[in-house]
Amino acid sequence: MAFYSDEVIQELKQQTNIADIIQQFVPLKRSGAGRFVCRCPFHNDHSPSMNVNPQMGIYKCFACGAGGDVFKFVMEHEKMDFKAAVEWVASATGFQLPELGAPVTPEIAEERTLVRELNELAADWFVEQLPKSEKALNYIRTRHLSEETRHFFKVGYAPEGREGFLSYAAKNGFSPRQLVEAGLAVERENGGIADKFRDRLMFAIENLSGKVVAFGGRVLEKQKKPKYLNSPETALYKKGEILYGLSKAKNEIPKAGSVVLVEGYFDMISLYQAGVKNVVAVSGTALTEKHAEILSRYTKSAYLVFDGDEAGRKAALRTIEIVLPEGIVPKIVALSRPNGEKIDPDNFVNEHGASA
Ligand code: UTP
Ligand code: MN
Repeated sequence: MAFYSDEVIQELKQQTNIADIIQQFVPLKRSGAGRFVCRCPFHNDHSPSMNVNPQMGIYKCFACGAGGDVFKFVMEHEKMDFKAAVEWVASATGFQLPELGAPVTPEIAEERTLVRELNELAADWFVEQLPKSEKALNYIRTRHLSEETRHFFKVGYAPEGREGFLSYAAKNGFSPRQLVEAGLAVERENGGIADKFRDRLMFAIENLSGKVVAFGGRVLEKQKKPKYLNSPETALYKKGEILYGLSKAKNEIPKAGSVVLVEGYFDMISLYQAGVKNVVAVSGTALTEKHAEILSRYTKSAYLVFDGDEAGRKAALRTIEIVLPEGIVPKIVALSRPNGEKIDPDNFVNEHGASA
């Protein structure tokens, strides 16, 4: 079986705060000098017998003797094997593990770096452009996103015109060809290269480590098509492997003990903004087995809150079949207005609030 190198595991351990991880399962209390105590989850503990030492990266119960490092804790507490525990800790920490089996050549590594740098650059630029456009600002208001939410999720605006981002990227040393590779520009029939996203509200799609790797762009006006335009797949972005919002929600899901699965960008952001933070969106594809496997690292309980229409119903039924083999128990939430009218999670939470 392919395995992560010791180097990777040590690096992950260094970047992980053991207290943050244990805190996701057991409430911790400070005990001075940066250490913590808690009731030991491995025996029937009535006083806090377990010590957690973030500097040394270890825990130790002085009553029952349980102890070890962060991986040991997750293995024993979650009944996982070592590899699964490493992957769980990596996800929780936002640490990107290398892909097993597929050796990363220098060319692939370089391309990934390019895609990441360009998408990060674009995200910041789109965010800066938004307040310069009265119509984008107006649109954001009609969707009830606060300024804080807009910045937190890096919601931006790609202006009209063919070379807004192209020329900004050029000033930062990137060629048009590189933009095409990163999915941010397209070749035109006349051979020229133009910005891919124009006059669209931009949703930054982040990987688990919170790096922007792709975008979804929505039209501001109803009649324009297509309603959403997505980045193509690149060296870093595989549609079937990324869940929108998971970088933000990943710590909230184990805390809540469940995930709320929705369809769209706005559904995800609106629920999060309203305080339902254990939420992720599938966004533009059917849920894949890989998605389900990723989610199963965080929880075994999912609420499927899809649109109330026929398409949403069908998607929910398909999703059930995908998540069950991963041991996730799905529950379908069918939303409607008091008069019976169907409604999506975004409108629902804006009309009725998070507690409803
Ligand atoms: P919806 O049309 O339900 O999107 O599609 P939404 O987020 O509720 O849209 P509005 O903005 O509130 O009207 C759900 C998701 O499917 C993807 C998008 O990710 C969208 O968020 N989608 C939808 C596309 O990729 N392309 C489309 O043309 C439509
Ligand atoms: Mn909607």
